[in-house]
Amino acid sequence: MYQIDIMTLFDETVGDMMNESILGRAQERDILRIEAHQIRDYTLNKQKQVDNYPYGGGHGAVMQADPLYQCWKHITDTYGPGHTIYLSPAGVTFTEQHAKRLLHDYDHLILVCGHYEGIDERFIEECVDEEISIGDFVLTGGELPAMVVADAVARLVPGVLSDPECFEEESHWNGLLEYPQYSRPEEWHGRKVPPILLSGHHANIARWRRKEAIRRTRARRPDLYEKLDLSSKADQKLLREIEQEDLTEKDASLQTP
Ligand SMILES: C[S@@+](CC[C@H](N)C(=O)[O-])C[C@H]1O[C@@H](n2cnc3c(N)ncnc32)[C@H](O)[C@@H]1O
Repeated sequence: MYQIDIMTLFDETVGDMMNESILGRAQERDILRIEAHQIRDYTLNKQKQVDNYPYGGGHGAVMQADPLYQCWKHITDTYGPGHTIYLSPAGVTFTEQHAKRLLHDYDHLILVCGHYEGIDERFIEECVDEEISIGDFVLTGGELPAMVVADAVARLVPGVLSDPECFEEESHWNGLLEYPQYSRPEEWHGRKVPPILLSGHHANIARWRRKEAIRRTRARRPDLYEKLDLSSKADQKLLREIEQEDLTEKDASLQTP
């Protein structure tokens, strides 16, 4: 069973979110366990205060090391050691590759959610194995980032999704963005589903999907596109087709008055 413990000031909200839908069903089947822990339960003061002024002055408050440590210690004493991640805008940016690595290298994660100005550096030095950011922006707390990381890793745990194909064709799994998806009806607001998807010809559909994935990645994410290996004969042919189609489209738009 893969286990994720989340240290937070909002254990009920996080617990409710993580128990819904696919992840909830996986937990009922004992493939996965996600538990949210209230950091305030580990304070020694009556007010359950977990933060205090930053040394050296400045705005806001800093989460103190000891309540975090006591909460972390409770988790490791109860469930054994866990790879501990502090969600922080100053961390390394999270990608699908990190999700795969966290699944492959560990079976127990402890995610620490900060608030206010962040957390006391000494807790990080003593207990945290890595710091992860979910992007170059700042949120008010680590709960959304922790849920993002937990969800991205949990859905890769074998058995959580019905079929590995569910994620192996998705954006970022193999460096490509996913092709466009369509569902019923065949025509909606005058827009038709590409006829090839209705053909039942699996090889042609797979070829169309790869071509659209390449086209989309090239247009939207040149940084990912640069890293792709498209040297196979089949991909080279798709690329020539994409370029030809782009030229035709450009010509058509120039001719439109
Ligand atoms: C207001 S932020 C603290 C920002 C911190 N003073 C800094 O400048 O790096 C409060 C908490 O939100 C979480 N957080 C905010 N933005 C994040 C991001 N992009 N990725 C991961 N966690 C984030 C962290 O847990 C952080 O401790």
